[in-house]
Amino acid sequence: MFRRLCCLHSTPTPSLTFSSNKKPLVLLGAPQVSAIVLDALLNASSSPDSSFQVAAIVTQPAARRDRGKKLMPSPLASYALDRGFSSDLIFTPERAGEDAFLSNLKALQPELCVTAAYGNILPTKFLDIPALGTVNIHPSLLPLYRGAAPVQRALQDGVKETGVSLAFTVRELDAGPIIASETVEVDDQIKAPNLLELLFYKGSELLIRELPSIFDGSASVNAQPQDHSKATLAPKISQDESWLVFDQEASVLHNKVRAFSGWPGTRAKVQVVEKNGEQKTLDMKIITTRVRSHESIPSNEADDIAFVEGALVFPCGKGTNLEVLELQLPGKKVVTAAAFWNGLRGQKLKKL
Ligand SMILES: *[C@@H]1O[C@H](CO)[C@@H](O)[C@H](O)[C@H]1NC(C)=O
Repeated sequence: MFRRLCCLHSTPTPSLTFSSNKKPLVLLGAPQVSAIVLDALLNASSSPDSSFQVAAIVTQPAARRDRGKKLMPSPLASYALDRGFSSDLIFTPERAGEDAFLSNLKALQPELCVTAAYGNILPTKFLDIPALGTVNIHPSLLPLYRGAAPVQRALQDGVKETGVSLAFTVRELDAGPIIASETVEVDDQIKAPNLLELLFYKGSELLIRELPSIFDGSASVNAQPQDHSKATLAPKISQDESWLVFDQEASVLHNKVRAFSGWPGTRAKVQVVEKNGEQKTLDMKIITTRVRSHESIPSNEADDIAFVEGALVFPCGKGTNLEVLELQLPGKKVVTAAAFWNGLRGQKLKKL
C-alpha cells in the first residue's frame, strides 16, 4: 500500500515511462552526431514491443562552446532535454572512471552501454558494469582508421569508400570484435561533417537492426575478431595542420580541404598587389575547392592566382591546379570566389 502511494506521488518524465521488464540501455556520446543515435534509440524504444529503454545518458560536462561566455550542455544533452529526458538521468563525469559516476551507473544495472563519439577512454571498471558489454558505433571500416578522427583522415587520404562499424568495446582502442559494418561510397566533393552525419545515420540503423542479437547473446558469439595486422590509425587533428602548402599536388590539397572542413578548417596566405605596387598579405580560410581538370590557365607568372570560370585557380605541385570556389576572410562571411574577385577591383593576387 505504501509503495503504491509513493509511486502515485512521484513525477515521471513526460516521454519516458520506465517499466521494469524493459532492458536498461545507457548511451554515451557528446557531439551532434550522438544525437542521431539517441533519436534512433528513442524511436525504436517507443514502439510497444520494444525490449529496451534508454535508462541514462552519459556525456561531456557543460562547456563554453563557440567562444561563447555561457556554459552550454553538450549537443547530445541538449537534444535529450528537448526530447523530454530527465536531467537527473544525464551524467556528465569528467572521466568515465570516476567512482561516484561508476556507482551511479552500477545502480542502474545497465544491460548494455552504447558509445557514439563519446571521446573518453573507458576503463575496465566501467566496461565490467553492463551485463552484455559495451558496443561502439565507429565511422570507419575497422580495423582501418582506429582513433579519434576516422572520417577526417579517410577523406584526407582520398579514399573512394569508407563505412561504419558496430563493434564491442575492449580496453584497446577500437579493437573489439565487429558485430556488423556497412560500406559507403565517398563522393569526391563530400565534406567531413556531411560524411560523418551520413555514417552515424547508417550506424544507428545497424545498431537498431543488431540490438535483438546483442540482447539474445548471439552477437557476442558471432562477432568477428579484427585482423589487428591490418589496423591503421586516425589520430586527432591539430590546429597547426590547417595551413595549405601549394607545393603539394592539387588533389592532396583538395582532400585536406574536405577533411578539415568543420574543424579546424584550412587556411592559406595570399598576397594582394595593389595598383601602385604595394603588397599586403591576406589570411583566408579555404572553404570549397575542386581539382582543375585541364592544365592551361592564362597566367603571366608562376605565382599568379587567376580567376577562371568562377574559380580562383592556384598553381600547385607537379603542374596541377586547385580551383577555390568559396573562401572566408577573418571575421567575414563565406563568399564565392567571384564575389571576392570583384572586391579586388583589378588588384593582382599571388600565392605566397
Ligand atoms: C526518428 O523518427 C522520426 C519521426 O518518425 C524521424 O523523422 C527520424 O528520422 C527518426 N530518426 C532516426 C535516426 O531514424
